[in-house]
Amino acid sequence: MENHLNKLVNNRMMITEEQVFESIRNDPRIKSIPQVLSQIIRVASDEKSSIHDLAGVVFQDPVLTSIMLKLSNSVDKALYGKISTIGAAVNILGKDSVLAAVLAISLYRLYQKDKYVIDKVHFWRHSIETAISCREIARLCRYKAVEEAFCIGLIHDIGFLLLEAHYPGEIKKIFEKIEKGNDLLLLEQKYLNTTHIRVGSYLLKYWNLPSFFSDAIAQHHEDVTEEKNIPESRLSRILMLANLISTFHFYPVPVLTEMDLRKISMICNSLNISQDKFKDFQVHIVETLLKESSFLDIKIGSSTELLEALNSVLLKKYIQLEKLLRDFDERQEQIAKQKMVEQKVEWLKIITNTLFHYINNTTAQILSESEKINHILQEKKGEDFIPPNKAVFDSTEIIKNSVQRISIILDSIKQSELKTKKYSNGIEMLDIEEKIKSQLE
Ligand SMILES: [Fe+2]
Ligand SMILES: [Fe+2]
Repeated sequence: MENHLNKLVNNRMMITEEQVFESIRNDPRIKSIPQVLSQIIRVASDEKSSIHDLAGVVFQDPVLTSIMLKLSNSVDKALYGKISTIGAAVNILGKDSVLAAVLAISLYRLYQKDKYVIDKVHFWRHSIETAISCREIARLCRYKAVEEAFCIGLIHDIGFLLLEAHYPGEIKKIFEKIEKGNDLLLLEQKYLNTTHIRVGSYLLKYWNLPSFFSDAIAQHHEDVTEEKNIPESRLSRILMLANLISTFHFYPVPVLTEMDLRKISMICNSLNISQDKFKDFQVHIVETLLKESSFLDIKIGSSTELLEALNSVLLKKYIQLEKLLRDFDERQEQIAKQKMVEQKVEWLKIITNTLFHYINNTTAQILSESEKINHILQEKKGEDFIPPNKAVFDSTEIIKNSVQRISIILDSIKQSELKTKKYSNGIEMLDIEEKIKSQLE
């Protein structure tokens, strides 16, 4: 029984990315995608079909029709005026955006009832916030397809829905570990051998959505290393930025690090967005989200719930900020203490050097004088000279040895590779006895 369990655990641990993709392909919900979505995928990927054909398919679903109208009216009222027909709406949105929006709404309907780990209200709140943010960033940087930016924001994390449906245990573990400050993608890789970005991007390719959508999804957590403005990566950058600055999350997200802030500034530069314009951007996004909370007929909570959530986010941020300030104060204090210790060590070095200088000179003088006395005493032997007591010779010898001893101690301290020794009276001293002995012998 135990072996069987171990086997099961091991098999689970050895899950491969291909197995994950296979389970998604075989997911009955993915297989039996709503008729409207499958028709839209077919029409949108058929080069011969027109926008008119696509509008005809959307029109079959009244909810989708009203969503497309709302979506197209949110693009640019000044440019298009009020849009009231599905044909005009689909024309403004374009095939790709209609497809992405219908995909998001279909996935919302398909996975809404899953209640394993991810709170769906929180998931879609983050998705819609990111979508609005993408749209506003696209406007700021004059990205031509604003609706594309909105749609990519809407579907950027769909990989999570699929992973949660098939591997809820792993997602639970991953979310628990992120709370402790671990990296999301590394955790996904560790427990699932794949990531939500790879799964999301795979699903989009599997359903023949245009590659710029799957590319943007695949890159939305990437590191930004250069500041170049590459036109092909603009959509990815818009999404990356919107995701980074989002206020609402469905898994524990740590406070923005210095690296994240640098990443934000680099993306802004690459998109030609001045930091000034970006100042009150987050407030504007949250206000827009409050206005458009029922925008796509996707439940993201009432305005009151959104404000409550915002309050709790602000409180969390305030607590994190307070902790950061406390940490900063402690670090400053440590630095000050360290500086004081360094200063004291410097003084000690100066004092020691001075002492070395004087003791060295003095010992040299005593040595030379004692040598002189010894010499005189030796030379006077035999003459009319009363030889001094043997004790005098012994004394000069002792003086010489003692001075040599002082010199050895000074040299040894200079080389400073000595250990300390604690004596029975508790006094700690440098352990240089052996060295002195060997040098005096
Ligand atoms: Fe993500
Ligand atoms: Fe996200």
